[in-house]
Amino acid sequence: MCGIFGYMGQHPNAAELVLSGLKRLEYQGYDSWGVAVSDHGHVAIDKHVGKIGAATTTLPLSSMALGHTRWATHGSVSDENAHPQLDCVGRLAVVHNGIVSNEAQLRRALARAGHRLRSQTDTELIAHLIEDLLEQLPESPERLVQATMAAFRKLRGLNTITVLDVRRGEMVAAKSGSPLCVGHAESGYLLASDHAVLLDHTRRISFLHDGQAVLLRRDGMNVYDMASGHELTPEITQIAAPALRSDRGEHPDFMTKEMLEQPELLRLLAERSPSYVRDLAARIDQAQDVFLIGCGSSGHAAHVAQYLFARAGRRVHYSTGSEFSYLYPFLGSRSLVIALSQSGETIDVLQAVRAAHERGATVAALTNVEGSTLWRSADFTLPLDVGPERCVLATKSMSAQLALLLLTSYALSRQLDLARTSLCRAADDIERLLGASSRTEIQAIAHSMQARDHVYVLGRGPNHALALESALKIKEVSYIHAEGFAGGELKHGVMALIEPRTPCIVLAPQDETHADSLASAMQVKARGGTLIGIAPEPQPAFDHCIRVNDVGPATLITNTVPAQLLGYELARLRGRDPDMPRNLAKTITVK
Ligand code: F6R
Repeated sequence: MCGIFGYMGQHPNAAELVLSGLKRLEYQGYDSWGVAVSDHGHVAIDKHVGKIGAATTTLPLSSMALGHTRWATHGSVSDENAHPQLDCVGRLAVVHNGIVSNEAQLRRALARAGHRLRSQTDTELIAHLIEDLLEQLPESPERLVQATMAAFRKLRGLNTITVLDVRRGEMVAAKSGSPLCVGHAESGYLLASDHAVLLDHTRRISFLHDGQAVLLRRDGMNVYDMASGHELTPEITQIAAPALRSDRGEHPDFMTKEMLEQPELLRLLAERSPSYVRDLAARIDQAQDVFLIGCGSSGHAAHVAQYLFARAGRRVHYSTGSEFSYLYPFLGSRSLVIALSQSGETIDVLQAVRAAHERGATVAALTNVEGSTLWRSADFTLPLDVGPERCVLATKSMSAQLALLLLTSYALSRQLDLARTSLCRAADDIERLLGASSRTEIQAIAHSMQARDHVYVLGRGPNHALALESALKIKEVSYIHAEGFAGGELKHGVMALIEPRTPCIVLAPQDETHADSLASAMQVKARGGTLIGIAPEPQPAFDHCIRVNDVGPATLITNTVPAQLLGYELARLRGRDPDMPRNLAKTITVK
């Protein structure tokens, strides 16, 4: 949720280095940002509300710096609540990702002990706790790391923290929740909440595990087990170079770039994936129970897949990640959990994976980020291979998840080649949809919808899950209230929402749901709603039609694209930032 970036080494302008790291990490939170450096034994700090954009800093030259981009949890979005947070005397700077659930008790105790608390954040309490504990410990080379580990043990909840002590010239990080890793560069150590941003500096990365702390000095690094206090041997992983560009090139924003990448990526998946989708199909075949889990768009992909596997004659259970804990009693050693997560760091998914392992189940992961916690903890990983997804909205990662699950379901029914051919045809059709003439038509539709307060999306079967996804895409980027429904539910209450000219999108592909979907459309039309059909050809009831050709089973992947484009155009018309919608973050590492 929040971005953390730190540096300790020989570079003379650590603030600049950290600022450029934070710019890459901004997708993890953009309520505020801040950087702290050492200025003659005191913390000098620069922090501001809002997006980091092209910010520069006038902080003094220093060879150590710690920065943060915030997604607010405790305390409003304000300069005082921006991180880093300081102790009483301005010696320690602390950044944090997580929620301290015993915040109220700690705040009372620290106030009673005379600490001057200036913010509403739980983070500031950590700085004061470490300050107290440092005073209590005798001088030793491990004084800061010991104090930080002792403070960390007093925190409840899932937390990842980093503290910079400008007097000692040391940095310590401790983790029980969201990710943190250390890059071993020639000029020193870099610390970040996403290893991808370190790859410009080094490919040698140490991932910190839950329950570990790391001490960084200019000339060395030590890793500790927090429970025992014992020192551990650091593990260093060599990460491969990313195959795709991570900058936005000539595109106006990352959303455009990532939508346009979809056709080529789907063709590559059709070509490269057969061996591992066959493996996954074999594991599904052997498992007693199969559970598909994910959150947001990844959850919608899991939901679609439930229908795909039903078509292949295999029952699988789908659950949104945050609800899965209520199904744990059904997990056992013959269960297979298929966890979907672009980032591989969504906390609800990671907790489900841990619970599955504790009950002896096997975990397969569909994830995009090599080295992510999900990637490293799964028994078997299917890479999405779509390159970095920088826009907060999931576009290409969602289509890749659908593609892999479609291929797996057809591998299960021994018709993989049919699905591969269909996928290539879908890629061609998506290319057409992303082309200039279709975009002009979609812009006109967006124009007609831009002032409406509500949009509804209807679909049946797998298209019901796609209706939910389409509504998510529209609402999160345009801020228009959009809601997806199962077409059949319309008459059970939803119809009360339809007023004259209410925009209603109907997914009506040429599959087993076609006739019933058109019947739902007619019911909306009879109440004066404006119908936007997503179908292979216009129908008399449609006011607008976004044509999606029937390319066989992979048509459902093409069906996700009209809402991406509509959402994008609505965002543009309403002056919204498509890459960083308000209140959101790309990686959801808190509960
Ligand atoms: C929607 C979106 C989110 C993510 C969700 C899960 O466009 O981006 O709903 O799909 O936060 O993220 P991952 O896939 O990283 O687990």
